[in-house]
Amino acid sequence: MKNFVSFLDHDPNVIRAIVEQALGIKNGSIVPQNLQGKTLGMLFFNPSLRTRVSFELAMKRFGGDAIALAAGSDTWSLEFGERALMNGTTVEHVKDASKVLSRYVDGIAIRSFGALKSLEEDLKESVLRGFEQFADVPVISMESACEHPAQALADMMTMRERHGNERVKFVLSWAPHIKALPMAVPHSALLAAAHLGHDIVLAHPEGFDLAPQFVNHAREVATQFGGTLSETNNQSDALMDATIVYAKNWAPAAAYGDPAKLDSMLGAHTDWLMTGDKIKNAKTLLHCLPVRRNLEVSDNALDSPQSAIYDEAENRLWAQASLLDTIFNP
Ligand code: CP
Repeated sequence: MKNFVSFLDHDPNVIRAIVEQALGIKNGSIVPQNLQGKTLGMLFFNPSLRTRVSFELAMKRFGGDAIALAAGSDTWSLEFGERALMNGTTVEHVKDASKVLSRYVDGIAIRSFGALKSLEEDLKESVLRGFEQFADVPVISMESACEHPAQALADMMTMRERHGNERVKFVLSWAPHIKALPMAVPHSALLAAAHLGHDIVLAHPEGFDLAPQFVNHAREVATQFGGTLSETNNQSDALMDATIVYAKNWAPAAAYGDPAKLDSMLGAHTDWLMTGDKIKNAKTLLHCLPVRRNLEVSDNALDSPQSAIYDEAENRLWAQASLLDTIFNP
């Protein structure tokens, strides 16, 4: 594995092997060797708590180092346009930044959310793919416009810890919010459940469809491992007999760039709030965090025995140690 920017780029068995190794690293039976002496350069175009701390600590804990930079404030503002005439506000081209960083560090990790102006534009992943095009060292996603693959590794690990190799009903349920959030985590949550062969139900209000290429890929991979994927606009039907519930908001692509339409669409579905009552018969509640309590998921769900949110956050550390060990494997 050279780069890690999308689950869609990798054999599902390679992804599963990273997760199995992560479980071994967490229980101490495996000590990753390939991070020793390596430095990870982390470039953040957006804020982070879990991703920044867990990537940095994974490197340091296993003999490596990491340097984190806020793009545009710690660095020059970057240009991504091909053959751009740089007579505006951008100061350094991604080509030069990638080539120079490649002389200093052993891997470049990028966090860059979508602009949520057009799904078509976000699907191009121009920031991440820009670094991938020019870097001479591995490029790793720390969440991009359309995927959060490192989160998906931790989610898989958490599901493996709680449910072993059992095939269970996994529900990804849309949840309310007051602002536009990207589809990256929901896409990756579907892919995580698919790579474990679960029976996936994708539940969202009408008009909140995810990008078909991710749903279709998740369906194919789920089928490969004995699972299924179906979609519904009825949350209570979806949650019936659910074992794992993943609650997450995302904005409807039809309202990208249209604040009035977005407010109206988001505001119409506050009854999709995930509550303790809705998950009372489930075994596991997942959310990537940060979560807006009692807007997206209620306190009595987040603080319930079913809630695995802190295991999930901790597992970022172990999953990424395993990922980095795989990437730096000579
Ligand atoms: N889940 C996650 O990626 O958290 P941060 O945005 O805090 O890194």
